[in-house]
Amino acid sequence: MKSIYLTGFMGAGKTSIGHALGEKLGLAVYDTDSVIEGKIEESISGFFEKYGEADFRSLEERVLQELPVTDSIIMTGGGIIKRADNISWMKENGLMVFLYCDMEVVLQRLENDNTRPLIQQKSKEGIKALFSERLPLYKKAHITMDTSSLSILEAAEKLAVAIKSWHSGQH
Ligand code: S3P
Repeated sequence: MKSIYLTGFMGAGKTSIGHALGEKLGLAVYDTDSVIEGKIEESISGFFEKYGEADFRSLEERVLQELPVTDSIIMTGGGIIKRADNISWMKENGLMVFLYCDMEVVLQRLENDNTRPLIQQKSKEGIKALFSERLPLYKKAHITMDTSSLSILEAAEKLAVAIKSWHSGQH
């Protein structure tokens, strides 16, 4: 089976849903941010501070291309869609999923977060604007699923059904 790429904004639940889905489908699970942190041996915010976003995006693109294109769930960082090549990679090599989540829910989850450099200096309006700017890019995914009112297990369950139906439509 082709790999499944989970995309979506920060705080949309990609990591938790990805782990639950991996367990459900019996697939290996990878998280681009964790793989990056393993390579750089420091936090992503530390890396952003020293080298900036452009270097992070290059690293992110390289990691995306190094991860398996079969039998895996790959959770991606919220900004992976900023590079058109990454969208093409995910769509050509696998199934790209957009996990949509209402901004009110996302903002609540991100309220006390200090691990995500791109929102540290931003107001709620600024975060909403970043989401709106990215929305057309997320929408390029093969499947969009609204997780706003779902528990992690419900989302994984619903996504598993959507993935199976997408795969059966491929033949
Ligand atoms: C980012 C999202 C983060 C991480 C980095 C940049 C973004 O991942 O890759 O801080 O640009 O949206 P999560 O979406 O897992 O928080």
